[in-house]
Amino acid sequence: MFRNAAAISLHLVGLLQGKKAGASVTRHLHQTFTMAKQMQARRLKGLDYNPWVEYARLATEYDAVNLGQGFPDFAPPDFALEAFQHAVSGDLMLNQYTKAFGYPPLTKILASFFGKLLGHELDPLTNVLVTVGAYGALFTAFQALVDEGDEVIIIEPFFDCYEPMTLMAGGRPVFVSLKPSPTRDGELNSSSNWRLDPDELASKFTPHTKALVLNTPNNPLGKVFSQTELELVASLCQQHNVVCISDEVYQWLVFDGCQHISIASLPGMWERTLTIGSAGKTFSATGWKVGWVLGPDHLMKHLRTVHQNSIYHCPTQTQAAVAESFEKEQLCFGQPSSYFVQLPRAMQRSRDYMARSLQSVGLMPVLPQGSYFLITDISGFKSKMPDLPGAANEPYDRRFVKWMIKNKGLAAIPVSIFFSLSHQKDFDHYIRFCFVKDESTLKAMDEKLQKWKEELRP
Ligand SMILES: Cc1ncc(COP(=O)(O)O)c(C=O)c1O
Repeated sequence: MFRNAAAISLHLVGLLQGKKAGASVTRHLHQTFTMAKQMQARRLKGLDYNPWVEYARLATEYDAVNLGQGFPDFAPPDFALEAFQHAVSGDLMLNQYTKAFGYPPLTKILASFFGKLLGHELDPLTNVLVTVGAYGALFTAFQALVDEGDEVIIIEPFFDCYEPMTLMAGGRPVFVSLKPSPTRDGELNSSSNWRLDPDELASKFTPHTKALVLNTPNNPLGKVFSQTELELVASLCQQHNVVCISDEVYQWLVFDGCQHISIASLPGMWERTLTIGSAGKTFSATGWKVGWVLGPDHLMKHLRTVHQNSIYHCPTQTQAAVAESFEKEQLCFGQPSSYFVQLPRAMQRSRDYMARSLQSVGLMPVLPQGSYFLITDISGFKSKMPDLPGAANEPYDRRFVKWMIKNKGLAAIPVSIFFSLSHQKDFDHYIRFCFVKDESTLKAMDEKLQKWKEELRP
């Protein structure tokens, strides 16, 4: 009917000026807007704001040293890069679909590698599911297990997607906070000082509790849950017949001789635990987006139902690269040449360098026992400069990070975003830095901090 855009617009102008069928145009526009109003599914209500976008944009705009987002800016190990090259240049069939629940060599090596660590023989077909990153694993787990009205206990501070994933599945998040205990004067704070109150945790379990989300080592705090703490969580999960979704993506990143313990390895926990991992975090290749879930078949079969009706299949070549990387790593596991020994050693040095550097301007570190991240206490700044620009109800840490990006050229992430709305005000005096960065990035950070220190001199 219309040959070009100009003809269409002339027609519409005509219609809008009421020259023709004015009522039908109004009706048409009304229908369009009514449709637009109905577009968003109810389960997405309130979930559209994503704070990360704003801080990333500001970091770019002010050309800040970006210690916000959690990814290494150095290369993955050579053996992993070679494995990736083999995957894209070798067997042509790696360009095609593979098994829906995981490329067989990958599910096989994951089963044997983690079977030993969990003290449980794993069947590659029924106890392993390969997903699009740990994000995909989490989403699949929530969709598979959480029903309308189910309660999900989330330990704060928490990796921020747990809450929307619970809500999107129709569940109700129930929060319980790790709380810091005071340190002695001059003593450096540690993530191990942040603990759960056993009575408070127990009080969160109700007949509606379906799952508890555990994240050890924790993002953003870096806390590594101790055997005693895990035993407490395990006994409550067993007592109340609750599934534990255990996010262990940073399991190799533990420092100071600290031990990572998988809760699934505790007596009686294999049957009720989904253990989630990430090749991105494991091999410093976050763009690969290969993750996995390990668990008992009676739970995994529901995750497979979600997977086969959503993603269905993850890229074959990246799965092949991860399989070969694990095969290589298995040969030297536990030895000094192992990447799982070398990476945490190097990152402990980066952590300590960052901690010293931040302290020079009064950003007081809470030394993490594990993970990519270090949080610092900014209470000193909060009392000295309480009136930073920003909305009156905006938590202090968010205003501080914006101020720091703009004025000091350093980007971090406010920690209050890792807390539920009602607890954000109580935890608005911490900010998170990622130290899994190249030496040059950490040096650039130090230069900014030394300049800041000079400015502080009276
Ligand atoms: C605790 C935690 N779980 C899961 C993920 C997601 O991992 P992936 O990149 O494999 O999807 C992250 C990423 O930052 C994380 O910090």
